[in-house]
Amino acid sequence: MILLGVISAALMYGVAVFPVDRYLPEASTVSLPIDWIFKFCAFFSVPILVYVNGLMLYFVVRYRHRPDEPMDAVGSPIHESRLLETVWTVIPALLLIALAVVSYLVIPLYYPTGQAAASAVTMEAIGHKFYFEFRYPGLTQSVMNEMHLPVGVPVTLDITSAEETTDVATGAVIHGFWIPEFRLKQDMIPGMVVPIHFTPREIGTFRIVCSEFCGLGHSHMWGTVVVQSKPDFDRWYAQQVQAGRSAAAGVAPINLAAGNAAAGQALFAAKCTLCHNAAPFAQRKVGPGLANLFHDPAHPRLVTGKPATPDNVVDILEHGAHGDMGVMPNMQANGLTAKDIANLVAYLKTLH
Ligand code: CUA
Repeated sequence: MILLGVISAALMYGVAVFPVDRYLPEASTVSLPIDWIFKFCAFFSVPILVYVNGLMLYFVVRYRHRPDEPMDAVGSPIHESRLLETVWTVIPALLLIALAVVSYLVIPLYYPTGQAAASAVTMEAIGHKFYFEFRYPGLTQSVMNEMHLPVGVPVTLDITSAEETTDVATGAVIHGFWIPEFRLKQDMIPGMVVPIHFTPREIGTFRIVCSEFCGLGHSHMWGTVVVQSKPDFDRWYAQQVQAGRSAAAGVAPINLAAGNAAAGQALFAAKCTLCHNAAPFAQRKVGPGLANLFHDPAHPRLVTGKPATPDNVVDILEHGAHGDMGVMPNMQANGLTAKDIANLVAYLKTLH
């Protein structure tokens, strides 16, 4: 018993002083209390783990079957031991009550209600198949996959998932919004907006991971959050405002004649093969196979209902499309430039 006590004490001390921040930065205000709860659980789990397993090993040896005993020998008569039953009921009950109280105090820190929600910034995060969309107040366009935040400024993030179609096979799904360094993880649920509240503490770039299996592209669904100093953030925001203005004034024209099929092929392999095969129409992944896009008598029209011409394909690449096959994101969501589109069309023309 003393040996187990020494092992427990040493491990509990280890838990208490373990520098979590060194292995996974505590990059938001929420990180600190979450890590505190984690340590609280680990701290009290240590003696339970050590005593339960230590005593089990001890008893296995101490009360093993001996050659001179009958095969049906009965062990110690501990049935209906009031003391034991009280101890193993009361201690876990007290620990669970303590955990409930601590959680009750911490949860409102990131699920804001009323006055607690006072934030400098309220913005939106929307899960799509298979990317994250961010909407900032004052920006006419959305920002895809790369979220920027100023350090030390409280933010409320309204989290949801896009309701792309009502079709069960291709429609809206639940995504997960997870930033490990922020200790924030929230399901993105179609038709429901969940606000979460936090303040970034550290300048740096962290991963945003989709933590719910949401379809074929799930493993590719991740973004980044860039936490910047206030001046750096303001500079980025000004650029976005400028980009929004020039987009409103007209996007860069797409020069199909300058399309490079080899560059398009590489791009297709990198970006499009998640949803499309370079194979006949029927070899669908998420969307149809595109090998005969411009030369398929069975499918003379595109998902938009227009004839399969290069210009109409450009239209889909630029603006995306919604149809009974699902959703094709627009060029911004797919991270395509005007030149990329020309290259992709050049490549698609070579297939058949
Ligand atoms: Cu989105 Cu998994």
